[in-house]
Amino acid sequence: MGSADDHVLTLNSMNPNVIELQYAVRGPIVVRATEIENELKAGAKKPFTRVVKANIGDCHATGQKPVTFIRQVLALCTYPDLLNSDGFPEDVKARARKILDGCKGGSLGSYSESAGLLAIRKDIAAYIEERDGYPSDPKNIVMCTGASDGIKSVMSLLLTAKSGKERAGIMIPIPQYPLYSATIAEFGAYPIPYYLNEATGWSLDVSELERAISEARPNCLPRAIVVINPGNPTGQVLTKENIQEVIKFAKREKLFLMADEVYQHNVYAAGSKFFSFKQVLMELGSPYNQMELASFMSASKGFMGECGYRGGYAEVINLLPDVYAQYQKSITVKLCPPVSGQAVIDCVVNPPKLGEPSYELFKKEKETVLAQLKEKAEFVSQLFNSLEGISCNQVMGAMYAFPCVQMPEKAIEAAKAAGQTPDSFYCFALLEETGICTVPGSGFRQVPGTFHFRTTILPQMDELKAVLMKFKDFHVDFLAKYK
Ligand SMILES: Cc1ncc(COP(=O)(O)O)c(C=O)c1O
Repeated sequence: MGSADDHVLTLNSMNPNVIELQYAVRGPIVVRATEIENELKAGAKKPFTRVVKANIGDCHATGQKPVTFIRQVLALCTYPDLLNSDGFPEDVKARARKILDGCKGGSLGSYSESAGLLAIRKDIAAYIEERDGYPSDPKNIVMCTGASDGIKSVMSLLLTAKSGKERAGIMIPIPQYPLYSATIAEFGAYPIPYYLNEATGWSLDVSELERAISEARPNCLPRAIVVINPGNPTGQVLTKENIQEVIKFAKREKLFLMADEVYQHNVYAAGSKFFSFKQVLMELGSPYNQMELASFMSASKGFMGECGYRGGYAEVINLLPDVYAQYQKSITVKLCPPVSGQAVIDCVVNPPKLGEPSYELFKKEKETVLAQLKEKAEFVSQLFNSLEGISCNQVMGAMYAFPCVQMPEKAIEAAKAAGQTPDSFYCFALLEETGICTVPGSGFRQVPGTFHFRTTILPQMDELKAVLMKFKDFHVDFLAKYK
């Protein structure tokens, strides 16, 4: 490798923004979890026999079965000779033919348009129209390599390419999904954190938005507000009135709206309902319905959980025509998102209809996954709340619980001595003693002096129960040890 002097890249000379960025969902605790897995494989004796990865919202990795219709369509698209087989329902064949007809050379292996296949963008627009009751134009749909890619593309439009006080400021919720803080760091933008209110079920208070922006104004040029609804890691589902308030705030402050709506199918709490920012903005009428908004959706979440296909899209509305042209140009550089991921999205936005051969099975599989998630959401928060020293807001939606741990003073001291934050100390101890891998709250940011961790609710119910029983024993011992 040679010495540092021989290298172009050293920690001092490489892009400092890359050093700055952190993505806790795959951070040091996950590195340790993988090491432990290898130690177990090599025969090491531990108080557990396998690692449970509750750190990441990866549904299939934790045992969820793929939806039959989606995989059948993908199978035919991938290997079109199967279109001649009797083993597939006619609606699956029709769907695969439609997708392949849209592909250049009739193959999933060809590049698509940079914004994605037009036939699929039309299906997405029809889905949005039906969901919201307002028109959607396929020209405003941009498919992407998972929502992550779409979010980064839109955020890049908002940068000012200036430094200091002229840097673009992006308002992000705290706690947040760390893609946002990481992208802001990578782009050299300025994060404007606004805190969700844990005491009131992680509500989004406009007075807090006002505090956050007025504190940030001397340091940056505020350009956009990110809202994650349903929330990750916090699991709250915003009311329509709350969304209206956020839109009005964004209008007053001249902010671009970025609505992360990847969990739009994942709403569990009685009385809660998903409202899209687009719908609320349209309902508010002029001048709000002319505001710039990007809303993001993914193939990775919902009932399908097809994370590995990297499917996603953004609906971006009300851009000025010349800005729209620049946006479209910017995505051409990436050529196109995976066409297989686009096919997954097509199955999600245009599922089998009543009377079609795949309808009943599709409906059953979708409803089963969502009902199980709802059951697990309730179970997890109840269990956490039954433990001394832990409180957990209701998991209204999404796929995570974000409990708060009353950290004993002695544990805080022990963490300090170990050079760790108290929440990391707690999560590492949990991993070493039980094999359960969670993410420390500091990875999502939290009110200073509070300590959380995030766990997914994804393991199958039997496993989840077993995991939480182990967790309970760990927590009781931890409190006893450091009390
Ligand atoms: C709130 C939120 N937005 C975006 C993403 C990125 O999803 P994708 O797999 O589509 O890139 C995630 C993934 O967990 C998420 O939780």
